[in-house]
Amino acid sequence: MFVCICNAINDRSVREIIAGAPHITSPVGVHRAAGCKPQCGRCMESMADMIAEARAGDCLTGALQAAD
Ligand code: FES
Repeated sequence: MFVCICNAINDRSVREIIAGAPHITSPVGVHRAAGCKPQCGRCMESMADMIAEARAGDCLTGALQAAD
């Protein structure tokens, strides 16, 4: 499914970019990593949600690893 229609970025690509670049904290960063720029902006909220979801998972994973 396309997350960003303007730049043809699908959800799989967004997840791969987020997972591969822990420093990315914003949708603009995802666009940059994909080699493009936001255009209409409709995807920004969805991408921000995906980033927040992934980073929450990162924190949980880190907390679980620290507890080991
Ligand atoms: S849908 Fe992403 S910039 Fe338009």
